[in-house]
Amino acid sequence: GGPVNVSIGELAEGQQLSGIAWRGSPIFVMKRSPAMLATLKQMDALVADPKSDNTDQQPKYAQNEHRSLKPEILVLIGVCTHLGCAPELHAEVKPMPFDPDWKGGYFCPCHKSRYDIAGRVLKSQPAPANLPVPPYHFADDSTLVIG
Ligand code: FES
Repeated sequence: GGPVNVSIGELAEGQQLSGIAWRGSPIFVMKRSPAMLATLKQMDALVADPKSDNTDQQPKYAQNEHRSLKPEILVLIGVCTHLGCAPELHAEVKPMPFDPDWKGGYFCPCHKSRYDIAGRVLKSQPAPANLPVPPYHFADDSTLVIG
């Protein structure tokens, strides 16, 4: 299929839009709070590819500390890089009981891979790479175009 338009004008902090598909893959669009963005620096030492050096996993314009064009808007292909399950959003900033170093992000229920709130995979997880960022741009302040 062609590009997919997504309205983000009503998106609240910590909220993720569901039901978006692009080229047969689920797309996550999530609005991060300043507190969520602040966890990224803390996670740098704990993630496998902190600087997004694996260029297969995002366009060049998302190869930055928040892996996005606008810091607050996260756009990801919602497919675990291990065996393709659907990672779940854990939007809480607080440490997770089953992994005290992890401050929330995405959790894959199939084999427990954990990603931070930029989709960067933690070290020593089954998943080998960060969650992919699809190509996208903004048509205007409230319209995201995927593809
Ligand atoms: Fe996600 Fe295995 S498919 S951890």
